[in-house]
Amino acid sequence: MINNETLNLVSGFKLREEYFDHHGKLHGIQHTYRVMTHCLVLGSILNFERETKLSLCGAFIHDMARRHDGSCYQHGQWASESKYPQFFSLFESIGITESDSEEIRFAVKWHSLPDEINLDHAFRKTAALLKDADVLDRIRLGEGDLKVERLRFPETVKLLEYSKSLYLKSTNSKPIIFQDYLSIASEILDGLNTPIKNLPLVHQPRP
Ligand SMILES: [Fe+2]
Ligand SMILES: [Fe+2]
Repeated sequence: MINNETLNLVSGFKLREEYFDHHGKLHGIQHTYRVMTHCLVLGSILNFERETKLSLCGAFIHDMARRHDGSCYQHGQWASESKYPQFFSLFESIGITESDSEEIRFAVKWHSLPDEINLDHAFRKTAALLKDADVLDRIRLGEGDLKVERLRFPETVKLLEYSKSLYLKSTNSKPIIFQDYLSIASEILDGLNTPIKNLPLVHQPRP
């Protein structure tokens, strides 16, 4: 179930093609909305309240600075530099402050690098959450593409069926806004007997 308070909080997270330096089919709006949804679902299961909010912001911009749909280690760094400042005021609307910026930017940069982060790294939770959410949507590349050993949390493995359903349903029904994806995700999880109550764990904006 998704409550109205949550829907209102994330209502400003609207993607447009012109936000992307290269809007390709593989890493465009639909993929980004699904990764954002996965951040909220997985973060909720992991009880990562703060990191869920930070990873959601990271997911919003993570592929916006791509220059092509091919293999690229640098687009995370580019997005952290050029897209983060552009959308910081949006992130402030869900309670992000300057003190969170380094962590979000680190997660965005790291998502496109091949290296693993040390378990004791201060930003690991946020970065690993974004990376697992991104990997969950590799189902769009074909059945065999998503390798379970590439995931960082055991809880992510339980979401493979859900992520496949979200990909198929969102491809067929062509949802328009983020809230549509959240509604589809909620329905899928209810059907799989993995109900997520009050889905996103985002904070109220600070006064
Ligand atoms: Fe990426
Ligand atoms: Fe991505």
